[in-house]
Parts: sequence; structure tokens; C-alpha cells
Amino acid sequence: MLYQSAFTLLDRIDPERAHRLAIAALKTGVIRGDLRADPPSLAQTVFGLAFPNPVGLAAGFDKDGEVYRQTLGLGFGFVELGSVTPKPQPGNPRPRLFRLTRDHAVINRMGFNNQGIEAMAARLRGRDPMRGIVGVNLGKNKDQADAAADYAAGTRALGPFADYLVINVSSPNTPGLRALQSRDALAALVAAVLEARALLKRRPPLLLKVAPDLVDADRRDIAEVALAAQLDGLIVSNTTIARPAGLDPRFAQEAGGLSGRPLFEPATEVLGDLYRRTGGRLPIVGVGGVASADDAYAKIRAGASLVQLYTALVFEGPGLVGRIKNGLAALLKRDGFSTVAEAIGVDHR
Ligand SMILES: Cc1cc2nc3c(=O)[nH]c(=O)nc-3n(C[C@H](O)[C@H](O)[C@H](O)COP(=O)(O)O)c2cc1C
Repeated sequence: MLYQSAFTLLDRIDPERAHRLAIAALKTGVIRGDLRADPPSLAQTVFGLAFPNPVGLAAGFDKDGEVYRQTLGLGFGFVELGSVTPKPQPGNPRPRLFRLTRDHAVINRMGFNNQGIEAMAARLRGRDPMRGIVGVNLGKNKDQADAAADYAAGTRALGPFADYLVINVSSPNTPGLRALQSRDALAALVAAVLEARALLKRRPPLLLKVAPDLVDADRRDIAEVALAAQLDGLIVSNTTIARPAGLDPRFAQEAGGLSGRPLFEPATEVLGDLYRRTGGRLPIVGVGGVASADDAYAKIRAGASLVQLYTALVFEGPGLVGRIKNGLAALLKRDGFSTVAEAIGVDHR
């Protein structure tokens, strides 16, 4: 209730300020989650990590790792921090975040505003690894021509503290970034990051996060490179540069990435396609427009081992996490699955 009224207020103020307020409220501990234990059917081990449930917080909410203990406390099975770049950078000029309330969507062109890898490392050092799964999503600085050098630097600095790492080559707001998804560039980049990871004492699983705006050749290249390099998983997907018909015309033409409800179908289609192309051999994190247990279940059936969300949290508030988990457990039971793992990819069988 408290959140609902605070949320109505948040909805009226500038979206970026609302986001800072949400982070501040999380820091004070005012916003609390559902502390009940997760339904046992939701637990599974994916890329060597024991997830208590498959519902994660997507990258971009906690770019600097300021509130990961608190977001884990909301009931997420894992949280992903970042994107973080080697050097701190301010991101794009404001306004750069737009809330399309009627469409249950957001357009953002933040441009990797973040405090850099050292600040993140300082926050993660000394973290208790028993208190939840924390992934770190790596980006590159806008002024860095040698992309591989930045992802390798991120791997060296944060690999020791992260439960998993993500190579993010799919944000639409850093010029040239998404071109790193093409075969040769991607193979070279992944090789450089794997080399950096090989030198670490503890080697966290390495995932690749891709865009939803991929033509057939891109999808083939990504699947081949990911399998050949033995990446640990894919995250499908980032925001879209497409603008489906019917979006609120006040915002539809804003540059940036679109997330939320209009992204659900296209992102789920790419997820299913990459699941098929990788023969189900590579765990996939399904993200894009998840706002209910049905949405999470649809991603899992299409091939996701885990799901993430961000935009729906803006519109629904943190109670959403518990609702998705309980609803998902009920859907699994209804369909005769005793664990979430049994339902992964069943739409393809
Ligand atoms: C404001 C905002 C900032 C984001 N920043 C990042 C980011 O830094 N790195 C990243 O990989 N994805 C970022 N994303 C994308 C999300 O992680 C997610 O892939 C996308 O929003 C689709 O999920 P959703 O529909 O549940 O929001 C951001 C999304 C939003 C809305």
C-alpha cells in the first residue's frame, strides 16, 4: 500500500529522478520484499550456480552496485549490476529516460552512465557470496576505440568478485557497440575476454548479451561463436531500436532502446530461435517485457533457463517479484512439471 501511493507519486515526477529516489529508498531499507522462502520447484543449478528461483533483476537498474543486497532482499533469484565501463563516464545529456505509461514501456538512451570498475570493485569486495547471486555486466567506454581492451579490463577487475560476467554488445546507445555482434568482431572480442578470464584464480561463467534486432546472419554467427568459444550462456535480449506501431506518439520518435511490454514478443522470438540454433546446449537468460508469471513461463517454455526484468518493476513495484514466483510455481504444477528445469524449451518438443 505504502509503495503503491509512493509509486503513484513517482509516476508523476521525472523518470530519472524517480529512479534515483527508488535507489535511495532501497538504501534506507524502506522498501522491503517478500521474505517467504521460494517454492522448491523454482530452484535449479545453471552454469554451476545454485539459483533459488529463476527471476532476476536485469542490468541497468543498479549500474554501480549500490543496492544489490537490498534488491536481492526483494526476492530476486539473482541480480545483474552494470553496465560498468573501465573509466567512469557521465552518459548522454538529459533527458535520456522516457516513461511510456500507456504502453507499459520505457525508452532510454542513458549511454552507460556509471562510476567505473574501481568503484564497483570497492562495493563488491568482501561481499558474502552465500547471500545471493550477483552478476556483473561489462560495457566499454564511449571514447575507447579498442573494445576488447575494455571488456578484458572489466573481466580482470570484476571477475574476482562476480558470480558471473556478461559481455554486453547490445546496448543501442554507445556508437558502434552493436557491430561487435558480427562474426569476426565477436569471435575476437570473446577470445580476448576468455584470455583475461583464464588468468583469474576464480573463473566466473561468461555470458553474452545480445540485441533483439538481429537478422538471420547475425543470429547464425552468434550461435556459432557462442558454441565454438564455449561461452556459458546467452542473455536475450537488450532493448530494441524498433518502434512498433501504436506507441505513444509523444515519445515514439525519441532515440534509444525500447523496453517493456512491446519488447516481449520480439525478444521471445529471438530467444526461441537462438535456443533452437544452439540445440538447447547453452543456457539462455530470457529478458524483455516480462511482467507476469505467464510471461516468465512463456520465456522458459521458449528456451530460457532463467528470466530477468526491469521495466515492469517501474510500473508494478517490487510486489511483482513474489507474484511472478508464486504464479510460476502454480503454472509448473498445473502442467505436471516438478521443477522449472523440466519446462525449459518444451515449446520446441
Ligand atoms: C533505464 C534502462 C537502463 C538500462 N541499462 C542497461 C545497461 O546498462 N546494460 C544492459 O545490458 N542493459 C541495460 N538495460 C536493458 C535491460 O537490462 C533489459 O535488457 C531490457 O530493458 C529489457 O527488459 P525489460 O523489458 O524487462 O525492461 C537497461 C534498460 C533500461 C530500461
